[in-house]
Amino acid sequence: MSSFPVATMPAPPVGVVGLGQLGGSLAAALAAAGRPVAGWDVDAGAREAAAARGVRISRELAGVVVLAVPLPAVATALDELTIDPDATVTDVGSVKVPVLEVLGDAYGSRFVGGHPMAGTERSGHAATDPGLFAGARWAVCLDPGTDLHRWLRVAEVAIAVGAEVVPVTSADHDDAVAAISHVPHLLAAALATVAGQAGPLALGLAAGSFRDGTRVAGSDPAFVTSMVEGNAGPTAAALARVQQQLARPWPDLVADGHAVRSRTTGRRPVRVPLDRTALLALGRQGGAVTGRLAAFLEGWVPEGA
Ligand SMILES: NC(=O)c1ccc[n+]([C@@H]2O[C@H](COP(=O)([O-])OP(=O)(O)OC[C@H]3O[C@@H](n4cnc5c(N)ncnc54)[C@H](O)[C@@H]3O)[C@@H](O)[C@H]2O)c1
Repeated sequence: MSSFPVATMPAPPVGVVGLGQLGGSLAAALAAAGRPVAGWDVDAGAREAAAARGVRISRELAGVVVLAVPLPAVATALDELTIDPDATVTDVGSVKVPVLEVLGDAYGSRFVGGHPMAGTERSGHAATDPGLFAGARWAVCLDPGTDLHRWLRVAEVAIAVGAEVVPVTSADHDDAVAAISHVPHLLAAALATVAGQAGPLALGLAAGSFRDGTRVAGSDPAFVTSMVEGNAGPTAAALARVQQQLARPWPDLVADGHAVRSRTTGRRPVRVPLDRTALLALGRQGGAVTGRLAAFLEGWVPEGA
């Protein structure tokens, strides 16, 4: 759990809709930290598993309501539930512009998009891990219509489970994750397919580089498909850049990739005013918010930024 002064941040109740890998882990982490958390899932097994971890099962939710359902269910998952009219609604979906279009329309400035950069190739409540978010980045979207105080409430929930908050617009988020997540998922699928075509000998010899390069190909295909199709434009653009790279002389390509992957940067602590422009600049520099101190937010940027 976080060691920074989150006690000075507002701490409303949390309601989690969808108690699978992401939602179950969030609800379990909050419950383990002694925080009241309610939740709902259409699956009775997921409800039972969450209740056993201290989550109050309810269809009436208030405070910060976190949608942690598969992307195709985001638009309708709250329809049958009773959501407090003053609740802040957020989500954990892997794409942000399409979710903003739907939930921004429905909830206006009460909606704040989010995306924890955590998760494994497993899914469902059996994949619940209360430590999932410790040390992870959690994108919390600051779009032109976002209410800064509601943004803070969502940021506080992320920080309460050990994450570091990256302020970002939905569009910048989708461009960035196309490069570091959505294209890697497609490449993992392509690598695994090619290895399968190479036959049993190749698969029998497969070791570390194959395992690391294809790990996410073990994810639920429905989850990956909704993610890459939901972010089709930025993903296609990033994939085209990868294809350009593959056409370069191999020694140059290998050297450039190695330089990026072996880069190490320290962290420089910073204080940022509670101001949209300053927060977005922090995120663009690769930094993150880790806590709040009076009127300022505490965080860090990479050395040299
Ligand atoms: N898996 C990852 O690595 C990862 C990482 C970051 C974000 N995400 C995002 O998190 C969200 C959830 O992913 P997950 O991996 O936790 O999926 P999951 O399949 O593990 O869990 C989803 C849960 O939602 C429940 N559900 C489905 N429809 C529902 C509805 N209408 N109302 C209530 N509950 C419903 C399911 O029963 C299930 O328990 C997705 O939007 C995904 O894009 C996933």
